[in-house]
Amino acid sequence: MALIGVFDSGVGGLSILDEALRQLPQNDFIYLADSANAPYGEKSSEWIAARSLALCTQLLNQGCDAIVVACNTATAEAIQKIRESLAISVIGVEPGIKPAAMQTKNGIVGVLATEATLKSDKFNALLATLPSHCQFIKQAGAGLVPLIEAGKADSPEALELLAQHLELIQDAGADTLVLGCTHYPFLRNAIRKLLGESINLIDTSEAVVRQLKSQLESQEKSSQGRSSFTLTFISSKDELSLLCMATELMASDMSSHQVQTKRLSSIR
Ligand code: DGL
Repeated sequence: MALIGVFDSGVGGLSILDEALRQLPQNDFIYLADSANAPYGEKSSEWIAARSLALCTQLLNQGCDAIVVACNTATAEAIQKIRESLAISVIGVEPGIKPAAMQTKNGIVGVLATEATLKSDKFNALLATLPSHCQFIKQAGAGLVPLIEAGKADSPEALELLAQHLELIQDAGADTLVLGCTHYPFLRNAIRKLLGESINLIDTSEAVVRQLKSQLESQEKSSQGRSSFTLTFISSKDELSLLCMATELMASDMSSHQVQTKRLSSIR
């Protein structure tokens, strides 16, 4: 049993929390959303690095045993600094271009991620390790995160914007699409509407949580005697609307958790 902190610029990391609740139900969780500052994807590297470190430090101060940086953008810009500064397990997320390269049949892979992720050294270093016979079509999903934050993932507006962003990827005939931002799994329905059922969507949340699980195993604390666990939502903007979004967006069962919100003035 551990207290696990999950951090994202907004509601995107709920796609990771959802998977964590499935794989690791007998743990306490704090979900921290920096919704007052989302989207991160169009901000400077320096800003993202400093803010991500500050918020992960807050999670450490809340007593977390491990932190998932459930944001590709923050991982790309800040994970090294966070790991150097905090003496607990810190797990990041990266666009799944590696599994995509292994799974694609026609060698054409679309990568939808934030501008900051696509421009980052970390992403480009990973890309450089992949086989040159694979063609990666990179597309920044500008404007998508604010729509998801506003609860409009399934709106005609989101569908229209997504259609524009996916045009080049679709025209190139990609058989695989990497969801390189934790917000994008919430666009799955819209993506399927536009690209059909056959395109292989790569979402790394399952693998990320498996990694978290193996890190926790080495510091296992007993959950014996406990039948209830806590799930706390903290936001830099509005905790109650974060809780509403979580209930709407997540499919996992929260009934064995005592769900609560917390206001943290130090992050506002
Ligand atoms: N969910 C985030 C990611 O995985 C950040 C999106 C944003 O704030 O721009 O990249």
